[in-house]
Amino acid sequence: MCGLQGKRILFGVTGSIAAYKAAQWVRELVKEESQVEVILTEAAERFVTPLTFAALSGNPVYRDMFDEAPDRVMAHINLSRDADVLVIAPATAQTLAKLASGMADNLLTSAVLAARIPVVLCPAMNCAMWTHAATRHNLLRLQQLGYHVVQPGCGSLACGETGDGRLAEWDCVRETLLSVLQTADLSGRKILITAGPTREPLDPVRFLSNRSSGKMGYALARTARRRGAEVTLVSGPVALEPPPGINVIPVTTAEDMAEAVLSRSEQMDIIVKSAAVADFKPISCQSLKIKKTGQGLQLDLVKNVDILAELGKRRHPGQILVGFAAESHNHEQEGQRKLREKHLDLIVVNDILGSRTGFDVETNQVTLISQFFSRRLPLLSKEETAQQIWDAVVAFETPTQLGS
Ligand code: CTP
Repeated sequence: MCGLQGKRILFGVTGSIAAYKAAQWVRELVKEESQVEVILTEAAERFVTPLTFAALSGNPVYRDMFDEAPDRVMAHINLSRDADVLVIAPATAQTLAKLASGMADNLLTSAVLAARIPVVLCPAMNCAMWTHAATRHNLLRLQQLGYHVVQPGCGSLACGETGDGRLAEWDCVRETLLSVLQTADLSGRKILITAGPTREPLDPVRFLSNRSSGKMGYALARTARRRGAEVTLVSGPVALEPPPGINVIPVTTAEDMAEAVLSRSEQMDIIVKSAAVADFKPISCQSLKIKKTGQGLQLDLVKNVDILAELGKRRHPGQILVGFAAESHNHEQEGQRKLREKHLDLIVVNDILGSRTGFDVETNQVTLISQFFSRRLPLLSKEETAQQIWDAVVAFETPTQLGS
């Protein structure tokens, strides 16, 4: 599973000023081709109108527990039967308190009590309300009851104060929705992923680098987290937002990356090296800017450490090691050679000359090579490719599936 396309989302909105943000989120879901049904509480209607949500979702909005229309009489039971996930955003302190004690005093709280699907709560409130012992107690109870709570952010609040209690960002909520809808088959695994290029400085303004947007590594990190893993992402310089819930360690040079990776590798269950590490660096970095002369410029380069090869030497029993190979030709042979020489379980071979594969594009077409199989994948989005890589990794842990 890669996105929320086709997912049926039951979306509850309660009475907080942050309700206006819920309208934008419903829009985002519809753009992603999810089917959205909205329940507004009475208090929510003081901030936003049913018409807003009806127009954005393309469906009539549910408001009244006692609606007598034939298709709505049992809405509090039927709505969640027809949905994949129920999300409440914003969820007020009042609604959290009601749900923590199992109250069902309106259509939304009744629908939650009747739901057999995952319920995601996105609290939003003033910081004093958020940190109050009663709210803390309710949150603990809600987590015990199996509700998924998206922690609010810290920042300026509508009440004029600054602190915890801001409705979480959409990216974070979307990731939570994706993870509750996904099998947690990487749960309990510690995974280290590298992404992006490295930069090898020549002088204060120039560096040598590789072409790499980091998109593949970031897609691997997001999808691993959705499948339940604890993810550390060692990232070279890229123009991507840090994915929510992931420990991102920014690095610049290959040497920084080697240090960040090798100092953590021992504790990792799975390591995936998708970074485009510079193979060479200038023998020294000039402290002053190199000036033009009438002549050309000779650069003396030395080899960087091959981090993946080093990981292959140090790997412990049971640790899974996945490498990437950027190839312009002889894909299969080069993939097989690197798999063997670097002691890998799996290598993902990228065709860098394809126009819709490789660098800076949203899609990729790769070949997965292990000692058991060589499998060319179709052209896929980077997240779909990442999911296929995780499927292969999961199969290493259940060897009966390896041939498939
Ligand atoms: N890699 C690494 N450290 C390096 C160079 C590469 O860890 N100094 C890793 C990459 O992250 C990737 C794999 O090795 O997972 C293969 O990288 P690639 O550039 O395709 O191959 P190289 O081994 O560098 O060989 P060549 O450039 O000769 O094809």
